[in-house]
Amino acid sequence: MKIIAGNWKMNGSAVALREMQDALSKIDTENRVILCVPFTLIAGAHGVAAIGAQDVSVHDHGAFTGEVSAQMLADAGAKYVIVGHSERRMYHGETNDVVREKAQMALTHGITPIICVGETMDERDAGKTMEIIESGVRESVPVDGGDVIVAYEPRWAIGAGITPTDDEIAAAHTLIAETLAKMGRGGTPILYGASVKGGNAAKLMSIPHVDGVLVGGASLKSDDFIPIIMATK
Ligand code: 13P
Repeated sequence: MKIIAGNWKMNGSAVALREMQDALSKIDTENRVILCVPFTLIAGAHGVAAIGAQDVSVHDHGAFTGEVSAQMLADAGAKYVIVGHSERRMYHGETNDVVREKAQMALTHGITPIICVGETMDERDAGKTMEIIESGVRESVPVDGGDVIVAYEPRWAIGAGITPTDDEIAAAHTLIAETLAKMGRGGTPILYGASVKGGNAAKLMSIPHVDGVLVGGASLKSDDFIPIIMATK
């Protein structure tokens, strides 16, 4: 069983989500399929895929215009939430500390956080990939609370049509697994994300410690997403 999570980012519509759920209801898979959709689509979502959000407030409730709390996500039916996606880190200045607070908030309300870590191109060029991954996990993943999912997303490969080598992905995921084990979170699922397509999904998911994938662009249309889900039964 693998976890196949789609991140729709700021894309999609109620009609597109209905079409996707309809297409997903016709396939036979043991994999856990999650769709992380914009806030506006969560409450109306019905179907076989579990629904997740893409961000959550660090606050519980109150005068925080525009924010959405973990309790509200749970109330709307979200079971997962992506926290610390590179686009949140890049465009909204989210740090590991903020990401951990968000993950904690999700756990408090029974939502599984999908916690993203990964290096930029500059960090990669400076030979800091492993350091960034290790500190990202140590500082972004809450020590206490319920189960989490970690996603390794090399930031330079997102939407770029390129991926690290299999050996690089294996090294990153092994480091993440070891770091999580030291934190008492051995066995936490670790997803790979960045430029996952139908054509590379099977190979990526055969790499040690790759327990599934987090898919951006190729999760928007069922014709692209279903081959990824079916790449491994
Ligand atoms: P792409 O699959 O479009 O590269 O995006 C990856 C991503 O950011 C998923 O969260």
